[in-house]
Amino acid sequence: MPTTPVRIAVLASGRGSNLAALLAARERGELSAEFVLVGSDKASAGALRLAEAANIPTLALDPRSYPDRRAFDLDLFTRIAASGADLLVLAGFMRILDGEALTPWIGRMINIHPSLLPKYRGLHTHRRALEAGDVEHGASVHFVTAELDGGPVIAQAQLAIGADDDEQQLAQRLLPLEHRLLPAVVNLLASQRLQWDGQAPRFDGQPLSAPLVLGVDGLRLAE
Ligand code: GAR
Repeated sequence: MPTTPVRIAVLASGRGSNLAALLAARERGELSAEFVLVGSDKASAGALRLAEAANIPTLALDPRSYPDRRAFDLDLFTRIAASGADLLVLAGFMRILDGEALTPWIGRMINIHPSLLPKYRGLHTHRRALEAGDVEHGASVHFVTAELDGGPVIAQAQLAIGADDDEQQLAQRLLPLEHRLLPAVVNLLASQRLQWDGQAPRFDGQPLSAPLVLGVDGLRLAE
């Protein structure tokens, strides 16, 4: 176990309910972490207001002030490194990242995505699951690599799609599961039960051959 709490930076583009879930987990004593920075590509993001209310340093960078994606991402990651973060959590950060800029963070950066990856990378995941006639849907937390939503999946939360579900309702029903999934994964990283071996995740020292599954009591190995 680390002697000091893990230092976390969070990037979010929107309302920040997943950030709120992380902060609430820390408040409840379920997550030993120090939040060193919350950053956004949108100055109006609700996540920034939540961070300010929690006295966490914030950063808003406008992509339009940079010549290209790489320049924006390099500046963003330089500032995140300067915050002293050990771990970078993408919690609704709605930008594609430049592969070269993100490379130093591989193994130290995770993302929550609202689908059962590898299904439905990218946008409109709830709609696409409904249109495909899927019977189940879910959310994934994965290590970020240069491949969009394509890095190794650490853990998933699943839910059954109901006959009455529309896109909005499905998103709404999934969100509380996301709010349990993300802090649970961050907790595993903070306690070093989950590690990156340079290529893939290891859980309790063993290669993780399938994503962990969120059950009523938290994360467990897939059967
Ligand atoms: C969440 O549903 C998250 O899974 C999704 O954005 C939402 C952010 O909500 N992320 C992505 O779609 C990333 N591709 P929040 O701002 O309330 O946490």
